[in-house]
Amino acid sequence: MTTAPATFVKGLEGIIAAQTEMSYIDGVQGVLEYVGIAIGDLAKHSTFEETVFLLWNKRLPTKGELESFTKQLRANYALPEGMIERVRSVPTSAEPMHMLRTMVSALSMHDASPNENSVEAARVKALKILGCTPAIVAAFDRHRRGLEPVAPDTSLGFSANFLYMLNGEKPTEAMTRAFDICMITHADHGLNNSTFTARVVISTLSDMYSAITAAIGSLRGPLHGGANEGVMKMLNEIPSVDAVEQYVMDKLARKERIMGFGHRVYKAKDPRAAELMTLAEQLARDTGNMDLYTKSKAIEKIMEREVGSKGIYPNVDFYSATTYHCIGLKLDLFTPMFALSRIAGWSGHVIEQLGDNRLFRPKAEYVGPHNVAYTPMDNR
Ligand code: ACO
Repeated sequence: MTTAPATFVKGLEGIIAAQTEMSYIDGVQGVLEYVGIAIGDLAKHSTFEETVFLLWNKRLPTKGELESFTKQLRANYALPEGMIERVRSVPTSAEPMHMLRTMVSALSMHDASPNENSVEAARVKALKILGCTPAIVAAFDRHRRGLEPVAPDTSLGFSANFLYMLNGEKPTEAMTRAFDICMITHADHGLNNSTFTARVVISTLSDMYSAITAAIGSLRGPLHGGANEGVMKMLNEIPSVDAVEQYVMDKLARKERIMGFGHRVYKAKDPRAAELMTLAEQLARDTGNMDLYTKSKAIEKIMEREVGSKGIYPNVDFYSATTYHCIGLKLDLFTPMFALSRIAGWSGHVIEQLGDNRLFRPKAEYVGPHNVAYTPMDNR
């Protein structure tokens, strides 16, 4: 019989609860690798499709393998019949993350064998969910703007197709590449909260849809993927670069958190933030949004001075906010963008978990009273 560690670790900080071959993080040095390849190299040279192949197969594809994988993904771009009607039935006031969570859950009802949990079946489901969630987000955003959905274009890559379905026109190469880099940098990140959630759910041998649905619910929290929206709200609240110092200092004095800073694992600058910072600067310049970038740089400088010694540096959400804004995405689509990409990581982890499953079942330390007499209702 195995014995559980006797000590309670709040937030499970530092506890190793799974093994993965997908991503490696060195939070002190600020390193992130997917299957051993530095995130910066993937951001420079790879595509989202190739990165997903890498995560799911633990190696880079040959040219033929990438072509075949891309073809399979594109074959899943279109929504199953009846899904568009479901999206149209969502109130236009709904938050996109709530809509996405519900629609991914609904996809299970369009799968003839949703509960099949062989590794092969899980891969098919992963391709299906990854392939068609962009159509869900794009169709919902158009629905709330009173526009008809745009059918996917299977001649386009994942990123270009999403932007095309969203805007009804083909994106420029620069926008497509910027979006693709966002997708690459958000695809996987160890046993973060939403990934852990996905693994916990599948460990009961539930199903891929339930695992991804639960992960979306986790991701939307402001301490996790929802922080990118918080960053944008903050940038909008600060009237000018001259007001940054006062704004940040006031917040810190009130012991409030500055969104987009700090990370459970990184105690150095998140390497994804470094990649996205360069991207944000370029896009801000190209789209006339340099004020957002200069405000961001000013916040980073003050935060380094004030809390850098605590290991609080920009995380992935900090510069992704400016990047998404410059790509033309609405604020409440920022976190769904994170989800579109992270489905690659979540489903990869589900497949890993299924390959060597053990039910997650930690213990709680009971800290309540004992031997309490039952008080009849009239005596309370
Ligand atoms: N702004 C100001 N101070 C901060 C911040 C922040 N964003 N984050 C941490 N701190 C401070 C805390 O106040 C604390 O200070 P103290 O020791 O003087 O009390 C110290 O740093 C340590 O904070 P913890 O809460 O223990 O750090 P933890 O590792 O648990 O938190 C977390 C990580 C939740 C991400 C936190 O940094 C945070 O709330 N950040 C803002 C939200 C955010 O950007 N989330 C996105 C994370 S990345 C992702 O999920 C994709």
